[in-house]
Amino acid sequence: MSVKTETLDVLIIGSGLAGLVVAETISRELNVGIFSKGEATESNSYRAQGGVAAALSTNDSWKKHWRDTLEAGDDHNDNSNTATLTKAGQEAVHMLAAWGVLFDHDEHGFQLGKEGAHEHPRIVHAGGDRTGEALVHTLMERVRDHVQFFNEETVLSLLKVDRLCVGVKTVNKNGENRFWKAPHTVLATGGAGQLFSQTTNHAFATGDGYALAYRAGAILRDMEFIQFHPTLLATDTGAADLITEAVRGAGGRLVKSDGSRVMAHHPKGDLAGRDIVARAIAAARSEGREVFLDLSPVSHLAERFPGVASLCKIYGYSSQLPVAPGAHFMMGGVAATPDGKTNVPGLYTVGEVASTGVHGANRLASNSLLEAVVFGRKLGRRLLAHPRKRPAVFRTREEPSVTGTLPTKAEIKQVMDEACGVNRNAKTLQEAVDFFNLYSPESLQSDDPHIQESSNMALIAALITNAALARTESRGSHYREDHPMKKQAWDGASLTWPQIPAEG
Ligand code: SIN
Repeated sequence: MSVKTETLDVLIIGSGLAGLVVAETISRELNVGIFSKGEATESNSYRAQGGVAAALSTNDSWKKHWRDTLEAGDDHNDNSNTATLTKAGQEAVHMLAAWGVLFDHDEHGFQLGKEGAHEHPRIVHAGGDRTGEALVHTLMERVRDHVQFFNEETVLSLLKVDRLCVGVKTVNKNGENRFWKAPHTVLATGGAGQLFSQTTNHAFATGDGYALAYRAGAILRDMEFIQFHPTLLATDTGAADLITEAVRGAGGRLVKSDGSRVMAHHPKGDLAGRDIVARAIAAARSEGREVFLDLSPVSHLAERFPGVASLCKIYGYSSQLPVAPGAHFMMGGVAATPDGKTNVPGLYTVGEVASTGVHGANRLASNSLLEAVVFGRKLGRRLLAHPRKRPAVFRTREEPSVTGTLPTKAEIKQVMDEACGVNRNAKTLQEAVDFFNLYSPESLQSDDPHIQESSNMALIAALITNAALARTESRGSHYREDHPMKKQAWDGASLTWPQIPAEG
């Protein structure tokens, strides 16, 4: 059966901020297509509340921002790439403003919020707590007339000729397969929060980019480092929406049901690092004590945090919101340079799915939107500076489906919740590894997007649990109850997958 083949200069998988910034940079010169599993606005970026971190106040500097990022990352950052990121903060914010993003201002200029583990207020935001929405809308407007959007078109696999990535195979909403050739394929697919039952992530964040890259021979690293955001609204039906950390930066306090402060023991109090706050909340909850975010000290709540105010209204809370931690961000991912190069020629990556080492073992708040903008821009410039010829004609044919059994998504979430949450230990991790060993998702290839998605989830869950079992120390977001200390032997060490790196 013949399948239609089409050609683009650059194929971007994922319509979040990182992919949109790449598109904005190149789409007036190159023929660009953006593929997304749903509508183009359905992304984690769109849901982002906090903002973009940048050293903008007079007593702040990129070096201070750099130091805070390294401290949060717990001796696991690539120091040089982290400096590249934080140095570019000011320019990135001014560029976004010039593109039309209406950041919130006060009498001093950009209104700067404060979030956990930042020494200074440095979070630029828009629409109060609707920063992601403002960024995505602005970028979409700018690229709309220059880019082809392929919505509800799922990428099933990356196509390779020898070592070279030459495009993708997709399936659209009518179940039709298409092959797309391109000299440059950009993975900007976001993270994998949906591996857990409680997450801030969009339902599409199922780890597809990691799985596509891994199957194509790209190197993944640091997969065990998963950030749990401390404050998801804990409704009767489970933890749901994110309550931005900026609320604590504006005075919100974490309290137990008896009114005592959850973070009283820590010098940074409610603004300690996310890993520390998430573990403190999890500890209180495991003793059967509910934890609340007390909003009463926050002035002008409705004006400054309209999203949070509207959640209060929807769920009928006045000032005390029950909260619980949930999966939020993957620090690891597809190993890449700041301008997006991977070990597979023709394949690039940017945003959460990429691992450039700037987040170490625990990301500093609001550095992810900054990363999307700064490294998205760098990747775009790289593509303009290194044009490649379109791939020579290659034969596209229907790959036979490779079937196999898979765990259900509910089973994957349950195993991941138990083994790979805020607290981990060898026993439950080994059980999880044994569970995922019953399946072979790496070789499963299906034209059914739902089956492929489950297979991606099972594959990435297996890599994460293996990595978390292998790292016999605690560092950043990775906390092992049976190895509660950071160990020097692990300083600077990353676990990479496949374990024997591909040539390159
Ligand atoms: C938040 O608003 O608390 C989340 C922002 C981030 O993850 O950087």
